[in-house]
Amino acid sequence: MKIIFATNNAHKLREVQAVLGEGFTLLTPRDCGITEEIPEEQPTLEGNALQKARYLHDRTGLDCFADDTGLEVEALGGAPGVHSARYATDGHDFAANNRLLLRNLEGAENRRARFRTVVALILGGEEHLFEGRVEGRIIEHETGHEGFGYDPLFCPEGSDRTFAQMTTDEKNALSHRARAVRKLADYLHSIGK
Ligand code: IMP
Repeated sequence: MKIIFATNNAHKLREVQAVLGEGFTLLTPRDCGITEEIPEEQPTLEGNALQKARYLHDRTGLDCFADDTGLEVEALGGAPGVHSARYATDGHDFAANNRLLLRNLEGAENRRARFRTVVALILGGEEHLFEGRVEGRIIEHETGHEGFGYDPLFCPEGSDRTFAQMTTDEKNALSHRARAVRKLADYLHSIGK
């Protein structure tokens, strides 16, 4: 099955393709001639995932899905949450975001956090939502060079390694995004796609 995935992030693309397997050909917005940044201006992950999927569907008429992810840190009242991409600056500056997170958690004993992903699918014009989450903790120093975003600071529950110290398959065995995308894949398989 061919389907558009609303990302130009090569890391996300690799993770999601690995979960979906070879039966799915993922097209990026760029593959469909959409080069502008897709707007995500909603106050919730659900709203943003739907906004991105609708943006692509409106322009292409094709089946598509989008994900939106937030890092929810307990001691910060759930921040950065839906603002995870633009926590420190207006751009997607991963290093600045990580520095700000560590500064805001300085001295905090409670380092509990979770990643939450919402996937919005538009299939035959109908909308569906899938959620995945992973609990874990924020460590004191960036560790590891794989992955992206907050991965060097996040240790999933039951592991002493960060997501940035894991291969794509190891991260996919535990991650928020993989859990949401497996629900998407189960749904698509259940209707014979
Ligand atoms: P997005 O809007 O879904 O791309 O996610 C918002 C922000 O959350 C990104 O800019 C990253 O900083 C962060 N993020 C999303 N997914 C992950 C992940 O799997 N690991 C680490 N950080 C992530």
